[in-house]
Amino acid sequence: MKVSPSILAADLSRLAEAASSLDSTIVDFIHLDVMDGHFVPALTFGEQVCQAIAASSDIPLDVHLMVSHPEKEVPKYFALKPEIITFHYEATHFPVRLAQTIRENGIKAGIALNPGTPVDVIETIYPFIDLVLLMTVEPGYYGQSFLANGLEKIGKLAALRSSLAARYHGHHIMIEVDGGISDKNINEVKKAGAEMVVAGSFVFKAENPNERVSLLKT
Ligand code: DX5
Ligand code: ZN
Repeated sequence: MKVSPSILAADLSRLAEAASSLDSTIVDFIHLDVMDGHFVPALTFGEQVCQAIAASSDIPLDVHLMVSHPEKEVPKYFALKPEIITFHYEATHFPVRLAQTIRENGIKAGIALNPGTPVDVIETIYPFIDLVLLMTVEPGYYGQSFLANGLEKIGKLAALRSSLAARYHGHHIMIEVDGGISDKNINEVKKAGAEMVVAGSFVFKAENPNERVSLLKT
């Protein structure tokens, strides 16, 4: 299981310290929750703060854009050289073109699906993406509870992926799950088919964030 701690749940006045305290031998990614106050109610940080965080750690970056007009916003994150840029399916009419642009820049393209969006929408965009980020809370805030339809959606997505991988010459996409992850549900989430999880409050609202990440990796 790969773990991507969401730095949004750290002390916002000390983001660089939070990033540099993460142990790169344990932590797989740093998850950057960009919110624009429009696509989601809250406003967090943009590309400049992300640059400052990136300068404090050599852990690969996992950028999650919860923004309207992602085609305008995505290019601002190319200079960060993240491993993954994920935008929301609900935020654009042109997911294929946007995913292609991300990949042309040598970055993995992720599509995020809100809890109310059926997983079947990935069928037509499957060959153009590298990852699906399945939201198991409504996006906008950390610290919410894992929604009741989460496990079923992960299972459905995993099954759909198997049939699509066969159709598209074995192309494999990662399943990343975001929202309400803790040691209480990690085993079920893994069993349902997730390969990567985001964890905000479970990791950063604890004395020792690295220890919390280790708990999720088992
Ligand atoms: C929610 C964000 C999540 C959030 C995760 O809108 O996309 O990444 O920070 O936080 P927890 O793990 O506390 O739900
Ligand atoms: Zn996120």
